Amino acid sequence: MKVTAFGASTSKNSINKALATYAANLTEAAEINILDLNDYDNPIFNEDTEKQIGKSETAQNFIDEIASSDLVIISFAEHNGTYTAAYKNLFDWASRIEQKFFHNKPMIFLSTSPGPGGAKSVLNTAVTSAPFFGANLQASLSIPSFYDNFDLEKNELSNQELKSELNELISNYNSLTKQA
Ligand SMILES: Cc1cc2nc3c(=O)[nH]c(=O)nc-3n(C[C@H](O)[C@H](O)[C@H](O)COP(=O)(O)O)c2cc1C
Repeated sequence: MKVTAFGASTSKNSINKALATYAANLTEAAEINILDLNDYDNPIFNEDTEKQIGKSETAQNFIDEIASSDLVIISFAEHNGTYTAAYKNLFDWASRIEQKFFHNKPMIFLSTSPGPGGAKSVLNTAVTSAPFFGANLQASLSIPSFYDNFDLEKNELSNQELKSELNELISNYNSLTKQA
């Protein structure tokens, strides 16, 4: 089984990348594939640019990574209540190649932020729109106050309640894949 995970952010020290990586390591996957959105750079999408340059090669690479995975874990960073510009831009380019670019893959959506809201607003947007883009969403979870609840030295959740919640969500998925 191959799990692909990424933080929907291009920050060098992205807390969402840290969370997505942690969650991916809780799975029983033989292969863990961590993406860095910096590898999928594109000009800001508009239809005129699309006419000039055609489909985005990096967006196609991004879709290919998803299409070759058995589970995809995304942790969403929140900028002003919604997606980061970098993720939204890649999302737009990918959706022009194929609208259901999540390829009906089982997915887990997470989010975190330093504040108590835990980027719930962007998570809600992502969850609501998931079916339109072919995401087979298994579960979602927001982690509030990241720096209070995640130990960056040990790279794990330090809040035991949140740790159990995420563990349960991943083990539900692990047992589903064993039954399949
Ligand atoms: C322009 C900007 C807007 C932000 N807006 C929000 C917000 O709406 N909600 C929130 O919880 N955090 C907000 N933050 C704080 C981010 O959650 C924080 O920078 C976090 O580290 C981003 O995740 P990342 O480290 O994975 O990039 C904002 C940060 C920036 C730079």
